Amino acid sequence: MKNKKIAVVTGASNGIGSAISRKLCSLDYFILAVDIDRINGQSFETELGKNNAAFYKCDIQSEDEVKSLFGFIKNNYGRIDVLVNNAGIIRDNLIQNMSSDDFDKVISVNLKGTWLMCREAASMMKNQKYGRIVNIASRAWLGNPGQSNYAASKAGVVSLTRVLALELGRYNVLVNAVAPGLIETPLTQSLPENVLHKLIEAQPTKSIGSPQDVAQVVAFLADDNTKFITGQTIYVDGGKSIGAGI
Ligand SMILES: NC(=O)c1ccc[n+]([C@@H]2O[C@H](COP(=O)([O-])OP(=O)(O)OC[C@H]3O[C@@H](n4cnc5c(N)ncnc54)[C@H](O)[C@@H]3O)[C@@H](O)[C@H]2O)c1
Repeated sequence: MKNKKIAVVTGASNGIGSAISRKLCSLDYFILAVDIDRINGQSFETELGKNNAAFYKCDIQSEDEVKSLFGFIKNNYGRIDVLVNNAGIIRDNLIQNMSSDDFDKVISVNLKGTWLMCREAASMMKNQKYGRIVNIASRAWLGNPGQSNYAASKAGVVSLTRVLALELGRYNVLVNAVAPGLIETPLTQSLPENVLHKLIEAQPTKSIGSPQDVAQVVAFLADDNTKFITGQTIYVDGGKSIGAGI
């Protein structure tokens, strides 16, 4: 890991987080893959090599666990160059059918967890006068029926991103969000074929994105040559967020 930039990626065991970790690893970052679950985490270190990646089990909703994670980062690496807050969950339902527990869970992981990670990273990045934070929001923050909890949590992530950009810009710490739309993941693959077809047809590009499409933009925002973009939300959604169609 000597001379490599240190990138911490949450929710790295699956889907988009795994693609982001692999992309940053290919660009010579050392990856600390953080997840509550070690589904693919084990293979991560073996596949990428111990000098390129490590896995750390952490529930980002827990203040104590997040503090321990950053203690580990300080002791083992002494710095954090990039933080990608990717871990997130859904518990969809129309509001009249949604339990307050499902509301709390989604806000707790997606918003509070991201906030806890940002708070610890902000202290370190401010002291080292360098940092890139990329928060994974969602196009759904603009509004999606059945996702009042999820959309609100991601709207919170967009707002958090803007506030931190204002607070941290003077310390050379840039904070941006990426808002994915329809992305090919186990969730979208499990949709009935006709439903998926309709969703794809509703896209200006008539296509579905891949986790690698998201990773590409994260890598751009994480790059130290990307120096003058902060507080922005970049959509990776095939143009769906434009809203108008024919
Ligand atoms: N898949 C999509 O189409 C899509 C679209 C828009 C936004 N997103 C966002 O992208 C991110 C990744 O989505 P995905 O589809 O790859 O999801 P995924 O379910 O495949 O992966 C999420 C990962 O987060 C981890 N995680 C969950 N709760 C955690 C916690 N409390 N602490 C630590 N790790 C935790 C899970 O174990 C999992 O490995 C999420 O923030 C999601 O909201 C996804």
